Amino acid sequence: MTTPTHSPLPSDRQLPTPLGVAVIGYAFMGKAHSNAWRNVASFFDVPAFEQKVLVGRDATQVAAAAAKYGWAESATDWRTVIERDDIHIIDICAPGWMHAEIAVAALAAGKHVLVEKPLANTIAEAELMTAAAAKARARGVQSMIGFNYRRVPALALARELIAEGRLGTVRHVRAAYLQDWLSDAESPMTWRLRKETAGSGALGDIASHAIDQVLFLLGDAVTEVSGRLHTFVTNRPGPSGTEEVTVDDAAWATLSLASGAIASVEVSRVATGQKNSLKLEIYGDKGTILFDLESLNELGFLDATVPVREQGFRRILVNEPEHPYLEAWWPQGHIIGWEQTFTHQVRDFLTAIATGEAPSPSFEEGLNVQHILAAVEESAAAKSSLIQLHTATEGA
Ligand SMILES: NC(=O)c1ccc[n+]([C@@H]2O[C@H](COP(=O)([O-])OP(=O)(O)OC[C@H]3O[C@@H](n4cnc5c(N)ncnc54)[C@H](O)[C@@H]3O)[C@@H](O)[C@H]2O)c1
Repeated sequence: MTTPTHSPLPSDRQLPTPLGVAVIGYAFMGKAHSNAWRNVASFFDVPAFEQKVLVGRDATQVAAAAAKYGWAESATDWRTVIERDDIHIIDICAPGWMHAEIAVAALAAGKHVLVEKPLANTIAEAELMTAAAAKARARGVQSMIGFNYRRVPALALARELIAEGRLGTVRHVRAAYLQDWLSDAESPMTWRLRKETAGSGALGDIASHAIDQVLFLLGDAVTEVSGRLHTFVTNRPGPSGTEEVTVDDAAWATLSLASGAIASVEVSRVATGQKNSLKLEIYGDKGTILFDLESLNELGFLDATVPVREQGFRRILVNEPEHPYLEAWWPQGHIIGWEQTFTHQVRDFLTAIATGEAPSPSFEEGLNVQHILAAVEESAAAKSSLIQLHTATEGA
């Protein structure tokens, strides 16, 4: 991924004007993405686009959401939306079990596709999507997966510092993504707790983000995986009585990287008191970087090349115009938040469409993450034995 800049877009590329956008799904991510589509042009130079259609299942509810979030229309059948000539971008914010069907159809219809993580629920679906994306790319049609934490300015800066060698040789990484919304054993069943709709639990939901970050920050590839999964609450109240939970509540993995580094990944949706805690620690022989999503404008940095008597963690306030994405926002020190990561994501996707340069993370990178997730599951099923990966792709 290139460091984001805010230079004017090239004007010589023929783009439909305006680009018509449709978002599928209007709940959590549908709202976060709608907010990004509504705001992106106020801050960044992006090609002209129109918020055309918001798609959901319930006509009344999706119409209300469309009016609230700035969409011109609403619809209940994504297939007819994909066929429309005035729609050029499909942004998929539906659950994982729908990603493959919608993305493959949209790409075949020549629409640029942004899809939420994880890429899909199975390797087979992810492979289909990746093949469709490669075919579409050859026709100038772009696709990208929504690992939005790549668009946290502090993490984009961390990647730059690591690439510049400021940490020296990275030895190990700790990645922990902890939530507690399932701590209560009476929390009801949702699509996220059924294997057939979610694919996996905390693993696909949040370890996918943590693993993508390891690949993104280090620009490295995973070669070997050991994992463990656990479901602490095995039955929950469902719509028609008690239902079995068929996915993990928490997952642990150690990842060997091609560089020789090792990453530990720990994720949970039952970590009582932790709301949405993503913590990353990267340890090299010349320095260390610390990140905590709850203070997302900050990066901890220790430079071990200065004399020991002067060493200590510095807090970098990642809020200067020279930091990734920040030139477009407020004056220094006027901090940004979680929702801006989605604005940056839409900005990068629109830029890729305008320039014709394939965006990152690609579906191929999403498929690579799926292989790592599958290896964690395979290892967990074999008493945490080491699983070799042969499809390692670097975080671009
Ligand atoms: N990047 C992130 O930080 C992040 C956070 C949460 C979720 N996600 C991902 O976003 C995706 C959606 O998750 P969510 O939390 O928004 O889920 P959600 O349950 O809040 O919303 C799902 C939406 O999909 C819609 N939908 C379902 N079936 C549909 C159909 N047949 N046609 C049209 N719309 C349909 C629902 O109406 C709903 O609006 C998942 O892939 C999830 O993993 C990403």
